[in-house]
Amino acid sequence: MNSLNLSKMSPLNDPSFIFGVATSSFQIEGARESRQDTIWDTFCATKGNIADASNGDVACEHVKFWQQDLEMIAELGVDAYRFSIAWARVINQDGSKNKAGLAFYQKLLDKLDELNIKAFITLYHWDLPQHLEDAGGWLNRNTAKAFADYVDIVSKEFGEQVFSYATLNEPWCSAYLGYEVGIHAPGLKGKQHGKQAAHNLLLAHGLAMQVLRKNAPSSKSGVVLNFSPSYAASAKEEDIAAAKLADEHFNQWYLRPLIEGRYPDIIKCMPQEQRPIIEAGDMSIISQPLDFLGINYYSRAVYQSCEQDGFKVCPPQTMNLTDMGWEVYPHGLLKLLTDLNKRYTLPDIYITENGAAIDDKLIDGQVVDIERISYLHSHLNAVEQAMTSGVKIKGYFAWSLMDNFEWAEGYKKRFGIVHVNYQTQQRTLKQSALAYRDMLLARNK
Ligand code: FCB
Repeated sequence: MNSLNLSKMSPLNDPSFIFGVATSSFQIEGARESRQDTIWDTFCATKGNIADASNGDVACEHVKFWQQDLEMIAELGVDAYRFSIAWARVINQDGSKNKAGLAFYQKLLDKLDELNIKAFITLYHWDLPQHLEDAGGWLNRNTAKAFADYVDIVSKEFGEQVFSYATLNEPWCSAYLGYEVGIHAPGLKGKQHGKQAAHNLLLAHGLAMQVLRKNAPSSKSGVVLNFSPSYAASAKEEDIAAAKLADEHFNQWYLRPLIEGRYPDIIKCMPQEQRPIIEAGDMSIISQPLDFLGINYYSRAVYQSCEQDGFKVCPPQTMNLTDMGWEVYPHGLLKLLTDLNKRYTLPDIYITENGAAIDDKLIDGQVVDIERISYLHSHLNAVEQAMTSGVKIKGYFAWSLMDNFEWAEGYKKRFGIVHVNYQTQQRTLKQSALAYRDMLLARNK
């Protein structure tokens, strides 16, 4: 497959449907010297944490090449660009503004306006300032308050020039990967940490929503969650129960409090030390109305029962894997969207991330990434089917605009639709970018 097509009748062809590309600050910006240290700088400095021993000091040098990067985005014909603001680039350690950092994002916003591209800003894509981690990070409730103060500064500064604000990106990753199993920054381990970090993150989201409503009432405000829909390894009752339990811990734990103001019922059976400390009023702060829910989807997860934790994740069930070893499973996205829509009263949905890491090769100036095109095609079909069955999906963002620092995997895993040569910083549109562009340019607009 080397092209992407939308049928004339497809709901994805509706002129109001938003197509975009996504990135995040730490993964592309570089220019470490002009911001505070973050937990990812510290995490990268410890040997063994990052597969290729790399870090975000230089990355794609987007702070230097922002202008050409935005022009490249415009060339793709997208309606929107999802990027994140680095907290540590806009706020100094004493809480004052970093004027140069704010000016950098102001330039981005002005240029996006000029190019008629909507700005979807993520306010927290994992790069917590290190000094806040030193005071306990997401295990300390005060971090939620500090987040709201930062969001107040940013949203006063940029206001409604921003089309959409997402408070957090994937709090499950921050809480579980960062504070419970320790494979992401800050690298803490312990079952007693995960749900506490998650609670403080959700509280931060709620406090920030209040600020956003005040400072940017007509921007669309919401949050981005990741989901790996849970499947049972067999039809055995215990495996079905295991998949359900994993789903409650990893997926519903984040969505239910946001929409219904309470955690899944499994909270009652959890050992006391693993339960979060919830103060009076927290759940109503967390569950304020959302303008949208961002959903990031890459793959499904398959579980079997296990004595120790009740569930255990199984290896991929098919051989159709991306370079991350993640199973290509578009039906999981359809099932996820239709299941959530049945279970909850959902706000508008944006698919804020979807894409594949492929072992790309740049040969004679070309990257023929057929597998990525096929991945995008099958997942866009799933989005289309979900819309046809009634899920209110308003947009889709490919992850990622360009190859970048893939967290614990370093630069070895390439998710971009644009290839980056890290020696020269040259960008090359892969076949997938050309196919995405051609699809977008052929729309009914
Ligand atoms: C998501 C992250 C994003 C990127 C993709 C592959 O979990 O939000 O930054 O790393 O995975």
